[in-house]
Amino acid sequence: MNVTVIGTGYVGLVTGVCLAHIGHQVTCLDVNLEKISLMREGKSPIYEKDLETLMHQNKTRLTYTTDYKLAYSQADVIFIAVGTPSNPDGSANLTYIYEVADQLATHLDHDCLIVLKSTVPIGTTLQLHTYLLQHLLHPIHLEVAFNPEFLAQGRAVKDTLTASRIVIGTESESAQKQLTELYCRFNAPIVYTNWASAELIKYASNNFLALKISYINEVANLCERIGADIEDVATGMGLDPRIGKHFLQAGIGYGGSCFPKDTKALYHLTKQLDEAFRTLKATIDTNEAQVLRLINRIPTYYPSYKDLTIAILGLTFKPDTDDLRDAPSLSNVKFLLQQGATLRAYDPVGMPNYQKIYPKEITYCSSIKHAIKDADLCLIFTEWQEIKSFDVSQFALLMKKAIILDGRNCYTLSQFKDLPVVYSSIGRTTLNQL
Ligand code: UGA
Repeated sequence: MNVTVIGTGYVGLVTGVCLAHIGHQVTCLDVNLEKISLMREGKSPIYEKDLETLMHQNKTRLTYTTDYKLAYSQADVIFIAVGTPSNPDGSANLTYIYEVADQLATHLDHDCLIVLKSTVPIGTTLQLHTYLLQHLLHPIHLEVAFNPEFLAQGRAVKDTLTASRIVIGTESESAQKQLTELYCRFNAPIVYTNWASAELIKYASNNFLALKISYINEVANLCERIGADIEDVATGMGLDPRIGKHFLQAGIGYGGSCFPKDTKALYHLTKQLDEAFRTLKATIDTNEAQVLRLINRIPTYYPSYKDLTIAILGLTFKPDTDDLRDAPSLSNVKFLLQQGATLRAYDPVGMPNYQKIYPKEITYCSSIKHAIKDADLCLIFTEWQEIKSFDVSQFALLMKKAIILDGRNCYTLSQFKDLPVVYSSIGRTTLNQL
């Protein structure tokens, strides 16, 4: 099939490249010429494992363009995968979706299936369908479907090619049939449903995972008070197949482009409907408090931030991505800079993006050792493998005072046996061996 994907962010580009990989002819459309030029050279504008390899392998089936007329001219199926950022009140901003809708309504001159892939509030697919029909310039037959994605950054290609499920939300048999054909080479269970249910599956899935994280974080906070160990508690819980071991990793809270935005968007919607979604509100509140849990411990060790040199390990919202959106490091760094602390940071991939936000306020370091050298305190925000496999004896050797506050439980307590350090993590005993 001829497929066009509008928007080459994580969702759009990965979807386009994976559809090319299973044999479709795919045109990736974006307004950003710089990104398009990069992709034409075979380079991915995002840091995502295996993506460039697949772009290279399937280059004869992939076209990158900013020319929307060209992109629409041959398309059997058009995916909309543009951003839906948060408005200040937490609702989803649909400006980009409707900009695309205007363009489609004006320029489409043949029958086509429009597939909405961006995460959107419940009811948007219906509204988009109505809007397109009202504004179409040419007498064509348009179908609309909602087909959410469940890929996680850092493993997006794998998540797409070996999807846990494909959700096809349609209101017509022909749209359902066309999407089934498009995906027939993916070996995944398909859930057929209507627009509203498909939209809710996406939100409810993300929000359930966010709830699970907030839940385990509160269990971790309790562990600290009663002398329990969250790693053991999570293992004991996760072995129950009804609970499952995934998303029971306690830490300083979830970040990223999805959970913070989607929890707030669904909560906003339920408030409008006068439905009290209490667990969702609790998820959001718990996360907001959890993100600041580590820095609240700093006054235990130092009376003032003014003369403190703090090493920060990990800046991105999770490992294996360069994405900083809603990364827990951001609110922590903002606070520490306001308090006058001196910051030295290291992240294997995230520093160039961080430099765009804080060009001069932070010293960016070439290694973990470089960052912790002579520091008074070390904060860990992301569990990069490089940080997890770091020789912990170096903290004691290199830091001025080896006080380590670990927000991602990168190390076992036994690794610090006999070392002159303070090691304080999430949901576990604090080692105070200085
Ligand atoms: C998430 C979902 O996992 C995907 O299924 C979904 O498709 C995607 O959102 C989306 O809507 O586009 P993503 O945001 O890339 O994917 O990352 P996750 O791996 O889910 O992690 C999100 C945050 O939760 C990270 O900050 C991570 O550190 C945190 N987390 C995750 C925990 O604190 N504990 C855990 O056990 C798991």
